[in-house]
Amino acid sequence: MRVWAISDTHFSNDQSKPMDCFGEIWVDHTSKINGNWKKYVSHDDIVMIGGDISWGNQLETVLPDLVTLSELPGIKKIMVKGNHDYWWRKAEKIKNKIPANLVMLEGNAVKHHEMAFCGTRGWLAPNDPYFTAIDQKTYNKELKLLDQALQEAVKLKPKEGIHLLMHFAPFTSRGETTSFFDLIRSYPVSTLSFGHFHKKEEWETTPTGKIDHIDCFLTSTDYLGHKPQMIWKTD
Ligand SMILES: [Fe+2]
Repeated sequence: MRVWAISDTHFSNDQSKPMDCFGEIWVDHTSKINGNWKKYVSHDDIVMIGGDISWGNQLETVLPDLVTLSELPGIKKIMVKGNHDYWWRKAEKIKNKIPANLVMLEGNAVKHHEMAFCGTRGWLAPNDPYFTAIDQKTYNKELKLLDQALQEAVKLKPKEGIHLLMHFAPFTSRGETTSFFDLIRSYPVSTLSFGHFHKKEEWETTPTGKIDHIDCFLTSTDYLGHKPQMIWKTD
């Protein structure tokens, strides 16, 4: 089986927020994502979705997008929220209202086939040029959630690796590592997938590939040309 990652799908089933205005890459992006997903992902694979899933503000508005996601290939879709997922309030409150094969991570970990999947949204870190005083509280909270998620993943004793999913990169928009990454590198993490970055300059500076023992993947759908990224393969 294989593990795939993709993020920032920015679905809008009711077309209230068409993405075409953000450039050619976003024209008809939903059908491009769906087409590539069906082409590459198998029934028993896992897909990690790194936030900014859908534009809707309410769960009711987003449900058709979530149902579509649940029906795409893949035995489980493991998700974290992004800064635009206003519909995602407390996971505990809504997890029973969404399709059963969608798994919401919020500072926790789950095990599947000897792999541990853990995640949280992340946030801007103090050394990021966009960080301001109002980010401090959320930054503190997200750093704790990340530590909690990683501790839970280690406790699961996975033989096939720890796969960490975030929305925000643990790197600044200038490509420097942040305290999120310092924490991540202190754990035996195998893969790290994140999104959030949509600008070409950010794509050029964001570190990817092997850093220490961690395989790092930028998975914004526009960066990937709307094709899920394979991040892991087991026998
Ligand atoms: Fe996004």
